[in-house]
Amino acid sequence: AFFAETAGPLAGKKALVTSGPTHEPIDPVRYIANRSSGKQGHAIAAALRRLGAEVTLVSGPVTIVDPAGVNVVKVESAREMLEASLACLPVDVAVMAAAVADWRVADAAGTKMKKDGSGKLPSLSLTENPDILATIGHHETLRPSLVIGFAAETGNVISYAKDKLGRKGADFICANDVSPESGVFGGDANTVHLVGKDAVEDWPTMTKDEVAARLASVIAARLDT
Ligand code: CTP
Ligand code: CA
Repeated sequence: AFFAETAGPLAGKKALVTSGPTHEPIDPVRYIANRSSGKQGHAIAAALRRLGAEVTLVSGPVTIVDPAGVNVVKVESAREMLEASLACLPVDVAVMAAAVADWRVADAAGTKMKKDGSGKLPSLSLTENPDILATIGHHETLRPSLVIGFAAETGNVISYAKDKLGRKGADFICANDVSPESGVFGGDANTVHLVGKDAVEDWPTMTKDEVAARLASVIAARLDT
């Protein structure tokens, strides 16, 4: 991909961002997916670009527009997202904002499943998808200097995020409260707690663009050492 020369605190730095849901096929016309508009991940890719980074955005199926100046790689499934993300390495920072489906159908049908008229229901057998964040966070040779994950949680948001931080080898988890009353899904606002190894920053509720800009400046400060 061609990247125009840029100025800014992240000039010369490479970033990988995942965004959107993944679609896991059941058959050629049906899929399992997570709820995700891609707004937060796309906004992060745009914000990193504005600070001068060379950004690759690996995106699952979304209906929003590609951010300008960013190399966009479109994928469908978690396995494709993992492959496209690994192909981006080495990078200085990886931000995994995608809502990856935890499970896929073990052996998806190659042809459309049909009702046979008897009322008999199909049963789906599931298998676990690879964890893209954990794969990159624990990568033996190509781990980025900064690895950031997201966690959409309800309930004890910060303690779940701390657990994910350790398990997935991340430097930070942006934990957002997705209780139905928060209005996060599909909306423009987000309430984030930036959970690090030894500190938690509670950010005020702001737009997803503002979260992206603030996260990009945390990244710039961290990489500037
Ligand atoms: N993630 C990933 N690959 C997966 C699952 C999750 O890269 N197969 C990343 C997400 O992009 C996010 C972080 O891991 O940055 C946390 O995702 P989340 O779904 O909250 O974590 P899980 O480990 O799947 O836990 P849960 O059971 O709460 O869904
Ligand atoms: Ca999950």
